Amino acid sequence: MNALRHRLYEAAVQSPEIDIALLERLYARHVGGEPETLREDFAGTALTSARFVESDAEREALAVDLDAAVLAHAADHGLDEDERARLTLLAGDVRTRSERAYDLVIAMNFSWAVLDDAALGEYFATARACCDGLFVLEHFDGPELRRPRRAEHRADGFTYVWEQRAFDGRCLDAALHFVLDDGTHLDDAFTYRFVLRTADEVRAMLASAGFDEVTLYAEDARGRRTARRRAPRAPLWRGLLVAR
Ligand SMILES: C[S@@+](CC[C@H](N)C(=O)[O-])C[C@H]1O[C@@H](n2cnc3c(N)ncnc32)[C@H](O)[C@@H]1O
Repeated sequence: MNALRHRLYEAAVQSPEIDIALLERLYARHVGGEPETLREDFAGTALTSARFVESDAEREALAVDLDAAVLAHAADHGLDEDERARLTLLAGDVRTRSERAYDLVIAMNFSWAVLDDAALGEYFATARACCDGLFVLEHFDGPELRRPRRAEHRADGFTYVWEQRAFDGRCLDAALHFVLDDGTHLDDAFTYRFVLRTADEVRAMLASAGFDEVTLYAEDARGRRTARRRAPRAPLWRGLLVAR
């Protein structure tokens, strides 16, 4: 059941090939050239890192996650020996500094928002120290995120339910449930407590950590991301904060 919940999570919320193509475009625009090294923080099963090392024979990745058991699922991604040798798994806190710096440091799917302000400040300082190019954070916000709500989404062979349970003015308690087409329910497959921050608050914390150029790319209704000076006024939006 544990392996299943990770597979369902990947199918429901991750699109590593699309993310890597987008990261390459951002890197070309903000840094120039192509990224060869990636540090994926809050990596889970290290799916994005696996697809990154697969995408080019020169590419190397470090995947960092607190949970060694989740990271071990990196073995399920079908890498050959050479690709596997270019992927390093680090079971530890994202605040751990790596021995080298990376062209790209990423924290996708809002995972970083589980950190309180002190921990997030320390994490940004680590990201700054370990980043030779771009630091990319996925962000979400809007009034819809600040109230109880359930949203059902269809995927291939299952439905997943995003539940916002409670918001206390600062933190959102949320859960991800899966319902398979054969009737199996995985309730509370993942639960989270996110600290909700505005894009401006996160920008200020990135600046304090030493990132001096931060660009917000917000996704529009058609899924296109455009650089914006201000956060959208939409009820719910997601986007990327891209820091140099
Ligand atoms: C939802 S998964 C993210 C999976 C994937 N990277 C994605 O973008 O969807 C969040 C992961 O963050 C890890 N995590 C939470 N706090 C952490 C910390 N302080 N340091 C390292 N990993 C952490 C959890 O163990 C969990 O596997």
